[in-house]
Amino acid sequence: MPTVTLIASGKRFDAAADETVLEAAQRAGIALPYSCRGGVCGSCQATLVEGDCRYPYNPPVGLSASARAHHGILLCQAVPCGDIAIQAREIASVEDIPHRRVETEVAERRMLAPDVVGLWLRPVDGEPLRWLPGQYLDVVLADGKHRPFSIASGPRPDGLVELHVRHVPGGGFTSWVYDSLKVGDRLTIEAPLGTFVPREDSERPMLFMAGGTGFAPVKAVVEHFIALGSRRPMHLYWGVRTTEDLYLADLARGWAAKVPTITFTPVLSDPDAAREAGLREGLVHEALLADHPDLSGFDLYMSGPPGMVAAGRDLFFDAKLPEDRLFYDSFDVAPDVLAAILRGRAGIHGL
Ligand SMILES: Cc1cc2nc3c(=O)[nH]c(=O)nc-3n(C[C@H](O)[C@H](O)[C@H](O)COP(=O)(O)OP(=O)(O)OC[C@H]3O[C@@H](n4cnc5c(N)ncnc54)[C@H](O)[C@@H]3O)c2cc1C
Ligand code: FES
Repeated sequence: MPTVTLIASGKRFDAAADETVLEAAQRAGIALPYSCRGGVCGSCQATLVEGDCRYPYNPPVGLSASARAHHGILLCQAVPCGDIAIQAREIASVEDIPHRRVETEVAERRMLAPDVVGLWLRPVDGEPLRWLPGQYLDVVLADGKHRPFSIASGPRPDGLVELHVRHVPGGGFTSWVYDSLKVGDRLTIEAPLGTFVPREDSERPMLFMAGGTGFAPVKAVVEHFIALGSRRPMHLYWGVRTTEDLYLADLARGWAAKVPTITFTPVLSDPDAAREAGLREGLVHEALLADHPDLSGFDLYMSGPPGMVAAGRDLFFDAKLPEDRLFYDSFDVAPDVLAAILRGRAGIHGL
């Protein structure tokens, strides 16, 4: 059985046959970074220092050519060929929370925007779910497939789990949520997942960038820092198309009104809507970079559509953001759908 050594901490764990490094680490109770689990977002990137890996599942699409040249690997897809040693970030804060499968009931369902449904789920067994602000859950469908959604708050006294679900045209689960799901319906979930969590071991000012329903985990993290009474400056950018997509703008404006260290900048990609509302126009990552062209002194949290995350990641590193100060969740489709899409592309492009 291959052994994986984490160079920074010296921790070691074994990987079973055909097991990815990420799965093996999770089995050993070690938290390494990840988001999409499909090989596309790049958030699980690490450096292979010794040994070799193969990619029997999805190709490592999220690895840039330069990362490959510098021995980068994607932990969610890489399977060790023998003993390996890697340089990877560990996220100790998420390690102690048990991962559970829980039956829930829809306690509340409300339209937040024309294509965004707010859901509030209550565990049926009455046992509160544990998670850290910013983490996500998987909804387990009847056929066993999973659909990931960020939890839009930290744990609440009433035990409810808040989700912001965008309707994806042609999407099976989100279309059902949009068209048919009602209060009292049951959903099976697995939680908590993900490593988009507050980093409290820093005094640096923070930038937050959300695209669409990427606001959900950002909301949870910002609320966490507010509850802590943090004095670190926080500048939140929320990019959407028109004002009706800014479905919790009043909440964000309320944070900025109450907490002098918080600034909120909504950014609309539709120029007419931006002009009409007197709001910032353009792409959200461009607005952030126009205000903060040198990112070397910041921690940056971002969450939302894969295109926004990928564009932001590259440009933020160009603007001197150190790689270990960027934390992100990329709202890719579920791993099984990504695999099907990539298999389809393999047929066409020989990926
Ligand atoms: C970590 C994480 C957190 C997330 N959090 C949120 C959140 O808080 N809120 C939110 O709104 N979204 C979130 N997402 C995105 C969300 O998980 C997806 O939108 C959701 O899984 C779509 O499910 P679906 O069943 O409706 O669509 P699917 O049926 O999975 O389809 C998705 C899209 O892929 C297309 N498709 C499906 N199969 C194929 C195929 N074989 N070939 C080509 N195209 C295909 C469909 O037509 C559709 O356009 C998150 C994603 C991740 C990874
Ligand atoms: S590429 Fe591995 S988690 Fe996204």
